[in-house]
Amino acid sequence: MDKNNSNENQEQEEQVVNPWEVSAKGKIDYEKLIEKFGCQRLDTSIIDRVARLTGRPPHVFLRRGVFFAHRDFHEILDAYERGEKFYLYTGRGPSSEALHLGHLVPFMFTKYLQDAFKVPLVIQLTDDEKCMWKNLTVEESQRLARENAKDIIACGFDISKTFIFSDFEYVGGSFYKNMVKIAKCVTYNKVVGIFGFTGEDHIGKVSFPPVQAAPSFPSSFPHLFTGKDNLRCLIPCAIDQDPYFRMTRDVAPRLGYHKPALIESLFFPALQGETGKMSASDPNSAIYVTDSGKDIKNKINKYAFSGGQDSVENHRKYGANLEVDIPVKYLGFFLEDDAELEHIRTEYGAGRMLTGEVKKRLTEILTEMVERHRRARAAVTDEMVDAFMAVRPLPNMFN
Ligand code: TRP
Repeated sequence: MDKNNSNENQEQEEQVVNPWEVSAKGKIDYEKLIEKFGCQRLDTSIIDRVARLTGRPPHVFLRRGVFFAHRDFHEILDAYERGEKFYLYTGRGPSSEALHLGHLVPFMFTKYLQDAFKVPLVIQLTDDEKCMWKNLTVEESQRLARENAKDIIACGFDISKTFIFSDFEYVGGSFYKNMVKIAKCVTYNKVVGIFGFTGEDHIGKVSFPPVQAAPSFPSSFPHLFTGKDNLRCLIPCAIDQDPYFRMTRDVAPRLGYHKPALIESLFFPALQGETGKMSASDPNSAIYVTDSGKDIKNKINKYAFSGGQDSVENHRKYGANLEVDIPVKYLGFFLEDDAELEHIRTEYGAGRMLTGEVKKRLTEILTEMVERHRRARAAVTDEMVDAFMAVRPLPNMFN
């Protein structure tokens, strides 16, 4: 059973995690979050199972615990083992022109899942959500949705298995029918309990959660899943999106659908240290996919919080504090070679390697990654965006 967490006691709690606020006095306590939200920890047995079922090594984000929590992921794997497929659903709220590395994490992982399981994927661009929350005009939100779609496509999704849609364009028909059915199952008290809305919030916000819930049900996509009401849905997302899907899982059985399963990630830490998500309002807190090699080098050298000691002498003596060191954390996300990462952790932790060397290696890796993304994005044309966003059947989506 899902626990229904409530935001009522938010003031007294030292950490707040919901779709529009992530803050903590110190580090986010993810153990506590699992407990409070009522999700499950992703343990090694389930990761081994993924490796076995897909016949490929588990993604770095699984091996390193970046995706660390889930809801009913075994049910997806059980079904898959019986020969039943499922579909993937993820999304993005298009609130800014340029994505930072943290934004890429769920998409890189979703791409791996799509390739490994060979399943269809729907990607929701919640231009309506950002229009309401970020005070953007309808037109500006729509423009950002298309711009962001290019970055998403650049992650390498398979067009024969992927449908990208924007709410402003796609909501209607069967999707809207599901929204209304969902909305009828959720009381005002419930939505206030889950999301913490107040009397001053405009009613657009209160009415939004069914929009994000609807893609969890296959009948919202009749061009893809007609006659497949039993198809299961797996949602890769950062754990701040959990409230939407707690609500969705609560109503699913009443509407005759499987509860969507979830696989949830940590937040990507800010350069300044691990106290929450990166803030879009401070460009120096994150590395963007539009940053030049020089920007990346500067940001890492100037802002990346170091666990190294204040003098070389002390560093040699005491070693680096890897628990708080941002370059090491970033390497944990993006340096694929397990042996090299282990080597760096050991040498740096023992004080034999200096912060400068670790930062240099990180700069190389991120520059290469951002450069690769930039090339891929430059190759995405408007016609390709239209093609991914066309409402069309995907006859080969399960092959
Ligand atoms: N609300 C999300 C955001 O602001 C966007 C989103 C919509 C999403 N549907 C999703 C994210 C499903 C993950 C999974 O970024």
